[in-house]
Amino acid sequence: MTDTLTAPAPTPQRPRDRDWWRQASVYQIYPRSFADANGDGIGDLRGIIDRVPYLQTLGIDAVWLSPFYPSALADGGYDVDDYRDVDPTIGTLEEFDELVAALHAAGIKVIVDIVPNHTSDRHAWFQEALAAPKGSPARDRYVIRDGRGQDGELPPSDWESGFGGPAWHPMGDGQWYHHYFAPEQPDLNWANQEVREDFLTTLRFWSDRGVDGFRVDVAHGLAKDLPEQLPTHAELLALEAGTGEHPMWDRDEVHEIYADWRQVLNSYDPPRTAVAEAWVATPERRARYASPQGLGQAFNFDLLEADFDATAFREVVTDNLAQAAASGSSTTWVLSNHDVVRHPTRYALQGKDTAASADVMVRFANEWLRSGGTTPAIDPQVGARRARAATAFMLALPGSAYLYQGEELGLEEVAAIPQDRRQDPTFLRTGGEQIGRDGCRVPLPWSTTGPSYGFGSSAAHLPQPESFGAVSVEAQSGDPEAPLELYRRALALRAQLQTDEELTWEPAPEGVLHFSRPGGWHVVTTFGTEPAELPAGEVVLTTRPLVDGRLPGEATAWVRTAV
Ligand code: NOJ
Repeated sequence: MTDTLTAPAPTPQRPRDRDWWRQASVYQIYPRSFADANGDGIGDLRGIIDRVPYLQTLGIDAVWLSPFYPSALADGGYDVDDYRDVDPTIGTLEEFDELVAALHAAGIKVIVDIVPNHTSDRHAWFQEALAAPKGSPARDRYVIRDGRGQDGELPPSDWESGFGGPAWHPMGDGQWYHHYFAPEQPDLNWANQEVREDFLTTLRFWSDRGVDGFRVDVAHGLAKDLPEQLPTHAELLALEAGTGEHPMWDRDEVHEIYADWRQVLNSYDPPRTAVAEAWVATPERRARYASPQGLGQAFNFDLLEADFDATAFREVVTDNLAQAAASGSSTTWVLSNHDVVRHPTRYALQGKDTAASADVMVRFANEWLRSGGTTPAIDPQVGARRARAATAFMLALPGSAYLYQGEELGLEEVAAIPQDRRQDPTFLRTGGEQIGRDGCRVPLPWSTTGPSYGFGSSAAHLPQPESFGAVSVEAQSGDPEAPLELYRRALALRAQLQTDEELTWEPAPEGVLHFSRPGGWHVVTTFGTEPAELPAGEVVLTTRPLVDGRLPGEATAWVRTAV
């Protein structure tokens, strides 16, 4: 019995280019950790411009740039001082234009990150709000409440921030502002018309400069409706998500905001794309962000959250393709990004770390990270094998695939970062209880030697381990066994594979998944340690060498059969 899942193919009368995002391979660049051209230890736009040829040979369709805006870096740039400028330590607007031109000349689209849930506390609006009196229009742009107690000396509620510590911070005059993230990230009030208008201006600003799309940070958090009588933190946590009526998350009216955005995005030719970062309760709720009247696409983190397990992977794929087909969008696949433990490390830890947290940012790994990466002992070979297999599985799926810088080198999470070098506010605000995300943000190694392995001419802003030289781009280039060459090969083949959005599950033994795609493509993944038979045909890619013509355990093969 086979089981075919189909999503709508791109509408034939529309030029193919308008639909580029449906099946794109998107490479996330975390600018401060990618390449440092001016030798100050921090990655910059010039560093990216210099590496455009590398991106081209990788075979990606688009890059997503994490924030490069002026910022005090209280949260790695997600604390934005000015949405329409470039941080001077990273570059200039002219260099941004040069980067867009260089990427476009290389056939690579550009997606920028937009951070609408909060500004930084250095943003002109917040500085104005601090100086303005209670009840002023300047204060209305933020989520501000009177404090409790005689003079407002107590916070409006006991709410806790997602990064640890209280979620309210005093304005200094009896009022308090809300910050779901760090205190340096005051939440905006999206009921305020000026806030809405200003973000439309920002969308136009970058669209006019030629960007092709936007990644929308915390897309599910913009619409807030806090009751007069605030619930306690425990009550807030107990409120059911997914009803559309939670005071903070995934409220139904958030889609009114994105309907306005869509009008702006559609006023360009081709229309600008957008992908929502929306942590919501169900694929159905996610589909609302991905609708053509809304942002058009939403991140699907289900594969990232799944164990390396055949049943789990199949369920995630089936559910999400069905959901994408119903919404008219295409789905998105992610295994790593700048917020989560890198996937080779996650898979090596699978089943070993009992301190799993509900918070995906520290899933599995917090205890291991706290031990400096020593306890429990993990086998990096297992993690690497599973990661390669999962990546090759993902890259053959219909929909778009988001890759995170360094995963093409097989980089693991860096655990051994001295406490005084850690930067993540989650580490700083929980007194080290939560280790946070620095381990996946360590600057990339480009060469086998050098003060920062080719990242720049001085030490990098987060310390790199000595092992980085051996996994650098220089060390891996041309080695057919290396992750880098596997990614290059898979991405080149993927460009041929993604002709439509159909997937058919083929019969397979337990612990093995086998699916086919039109054009005679077959993909087999072994999740256990047992080898599996492959269909007859040309084996065009394997993540482990075949043994007696069979695929070993924890591996993926792509086979092309005659059609
Ligand atoms: C999600 C981003 O991916 C993360 O890095 C950031 O800390 C929060 N949003 C707050 O902007």
